Amino acid sequence: MIAARILIVEDDRVVARDIREQLARMGHVVVGTSASGEDAIQLANRHQPDLVLMDIRLEGEMDGIEAARRIRDVHQIPVVFLTAYANDETVQRASMTEPFGYLLKPFEEPQMRTVIQMALYKHASDAKLRLGERRYAATLASIRDGVILCDGRGRVDFMNRVAETMTGWTAAEAVGRPLSAVFTVVDEETQEPLEDFAALVLRSRDLAPPERLSKLLPRCAAANVPVPGIMVEERCSAIIDDRGAVAGAILVFSDLTLRRQIAEALRKAQADLAQIGRLTMMGELAAAIAHEVNQPLMAIVTNAGTCLQHLSKADPDLSKARAVVERIVRDAQRAGDVVRSIRALARRTPADPGWVDMSALIADTLALVRAELRRARVAVETDLLRGPPWVHGDRVQLQQLMLNLVTNAIEAMDAPAVAVRRLRITTSAEGGRIRVRVEDSGVGIAEPDVDVLFKALYTTKPDGLGMGLSISRSIVELHGGQLTAAPGTPCGSVFEVVLPVSSQGAGGD
Ligand SMILES: Nc1ncnc2c1ncn2[C@@H]1O[C@H](COP(=O)(O)OP(=O)(O)OP(=O)(O)O)[C@@H](O)[C@H]1O
Ligand SMILES: [Mg+2]
Repeated sequence: MIAARILIVEDDRVVARDIREQLARMGHVVVGTSASGEDAIQLANRHQPDLVLMDIRLEGEMDGIEAARRIRDVHQIPVVFLTAYANDETVQRASMTEPFGYLLKPFEEPQMRTVIQMALYKHASDAKLRLGERRYAATLASIRDGVILCDGRGRVDFMNRVAETMTGWTAAEAVGRPLSAVFTVVDEETQEPLEDFAALVLRSRDLAPPERLSKLLPRCAAANVPVPGIMVEERCSAIIDDRGAVAGAILVFSDLTLRRQIAEALRKAQADLAQIGRLTMMGELAAAIAHEVNQPLMAIVTNAGTCLQHLSKADPDLSKARAVVERIVRDAQRAGDVVRSIRALARRTPADPGWVDMSALIADTLALVRAELRRARVAVETDLLRGPPWVHGDRVQLQQLMLNLVTNAIEAMDAPAVAVRRLRITTSAEGGRIRVRVEDSGVGIAEPDVDVLFKALYTTKPDGLGMGLSISRSIVELHGGQLTAAPGTPCGSVFEVVLPVSSQGAGGD
């Protein structure tokens, strides 16, 4: 049993005392007894009882029904009427105050016990319901979507604040109107009016149709006239009653403007990023081309000077001059090949793949830098494999690789402090790979972390670009190999290239 704090309102003192005794036996606490309506209201205010037992006929102006109404309006305290008069008119007036029960006098104790228990129980469940409704109202008020509830005839029952703002209607104005009058939507493209979603749900009995995109027109806008509405995503679900019938519908809609703006900003940012990526790549490409074309250009300038010397003699040696011009033509062609190979490198594809004999390629490279080697007084030693295995790859790129390594080696030894200037290049084959070592006796590597040497734009030279090793590593990796650096013994440094060789490479091409 629920023990409760009870207020007795009864003008018959004997009956009141009787009730008080009975309640005490049941374990309830009587917070007060009053004989008039006015007094009852005051006691209810002061004690906030759990229940009021209210006689209808009371002393004074106010009867029990009026007193019950006032108490209920302020405190939601449940009232049980005690009366000897049960005529229709009284019962009807009393029911307006939504009482929690009647006790017809005279009544027995068990009867009173049951009515009080039922009233307390009903009040507790009503309180739960009210709390649930408050939770649900708070939820609807705090979500960012618009929400409109419709009754079974498709008329607006409720709308939240967001729905008010988006439609331009207040809930007070909208309640009772058909949804289509308050929430006017058209197709975004055709501007054709769309059937209101709740009506659709009520008619089709499709309990939760898929969401749809539409344009919500401002209040009072005429359909078929393109006006700047709000793009919304509408979702609608049916509300089902206890018997399984569709009793109404709930329409939830969200403003897509912000979502669309974000998507557009994202798309633009991606496009900008792609553009920046392209520009960065163009910059790297330009730097790489500048780096690699320099060598053939310098060769062309040197050869052109030699040619001029031959021609400016009193008796020019035309055959020598022709030989030099042929070298110029070869170098110019090589410059063109180099540009092509670098563009292919940027696209990460070998420009012109074929079978490459690394030993022959190294010999050609040394021939290209013969003048520099001589000028820097570098002694060259080679120990190269003859014939296969061959590397499958781009000859021009692989030649650029060797040229960069050899040029760096010459530059490392081209310092007054370097007394012994020895360049040693070897190739060896092992387990499906070919190993090329380029050793010099130069100044050695200053960096403890040798990997930084391979970063683009890293240079320790006053007029260096810092591109040679970065391009070289890209070339080696594109060919499926590795390029590493290490300090030499007793001095200088060693750069090592390991490249896969294909078994098919034996025949060459
Ligand atoms: N054989 C070497 N011995 C010692 N240091 C080296 C050697 N090769 C490269 N380095 C170091 O690595 C750095 C980067 O080399 P990389 O070839 O990438 O650029 P760079 O030679 O400085 O300029 P460039 O772009 O003109 O080739 C060099 O500046 C140098 O400090
Ligand atoms: Mg270099």
